[in-house]
Amino acid sequence: MNDTSFHDRMLSLGLARVAEQAALASAEYIGRGDEQAADQAAVNAMRKQLNLLDIEGVVVIGEGERDEAPMLHIGEQVGTGNGPCVDIALDPLEGTTLTARDMPNALTVIAMGPRGSMLHAPDVYMEKLAIGPGYPEGLVTLDMPPATRVSVLAAEKGCALSDITVCILERPRHEDIIAELRSTGASVRLITDGDVAGVMHCAESVTTGVDMYMGSGGAPEGVLAAAALKCMGGQIYGRLLFRNDDEIARARKAGLNDFDKVYSRDEMVTRNVIFAATGVTGGTLLPAIKREPGWITTETLLMRSKTGSVRRMQYRTPADTLPGR
Ligand code: FBP
Repeated sequence: MNDTSFHDRMLSLGLARVAEQAALASAEYIGRGDEQAADQAAVNAMRKQLNLLDIEGVVVIGEGERDEAPMLHIGEQVGTGNGPCVDIALDPLEGTTLTARDMPNALTVIAMGPRGSMLHAPDVYMEKLAIGPGYPEGLVTLDMPPATRVSVLAAEKGCALSDITVCILERPRHEDIIAELRSTGASVRLITDGDVAGVMHCAESVTTGVDMYMGSGGAPEGVLAAAALKCMGGQIYGRLLFRNDDEIARARKAGLNDFDKVYSRDEMVTRNVIFAATGVTGGTLLPAIKREPGWITTETLLMRSKTGSVRRMQYRTPADTLPGR
């Protein structure tokens, strides 16, 4: 008989291997200018490794709808089918452009929880706001103007506004927010891609120097970031943004009806989850995949929200065992 309970401790090591294999597969595409090939290699490897796990898994956050993603699409069943019923949120390569251009903070990312534990976010934009652990719940909100958010945070932290750093995606749509933040004296750290890592930076602000994340990015990435913060501590709020009827239809298809709702971290990820991310290109959170003659080394962050445990696992393997060889 199958044991259907979610043994997060036992499953977590398997999850780390999934993130590792996706990263290893993308290694040979770092800095090679081919985003699609890098992504495809990561997708293939992640799927192959996931299918070795004794789970009855369903992808709830994946590469897209079935008609646009041949593999790891939303609704795809993964695992051997022997084991607990789990939901999976994944991004086999978060930061395809970062990888192709060998720029910082590309990661392979995967979260797993019991069935029904994660918001089925459609592939639309989400307005996001995140801060690290240790602050009162609701200290900052999406309804506050950006300048108010930073002044409230500075007051609670007991520092000057000039000591606050906000991370934000460099996009024309964020120009006004960036100008408003800078007018307060706060510092803005611009990233070109990769807002899962951007949000995670808030949870390790002493190391990363980032206090707050804000701005719009992918909604699926918002749920992955919420899973990470559920393990690391910290708050994230997200509101879906719709640009047309097709996007609203995507949300309805995902079972959502309240289009103005602000989702808190625990509304995006309602139960305990496990989360793994492997560094592809180097950044403040995780080092890059290291290649040396005959060998390849990765580092993976493996976390469980039930205990708040955070492991950093280094994995060194002969280069000729890379996925796809
Ligand atoms: P990829 O993994 O597809 O490269 O996405 C990277 C990313 O920067 C996300 O981290 C972010 O949420 C989203 O793209 C932002 O979307 P856009 O580039 O349309 O502003």
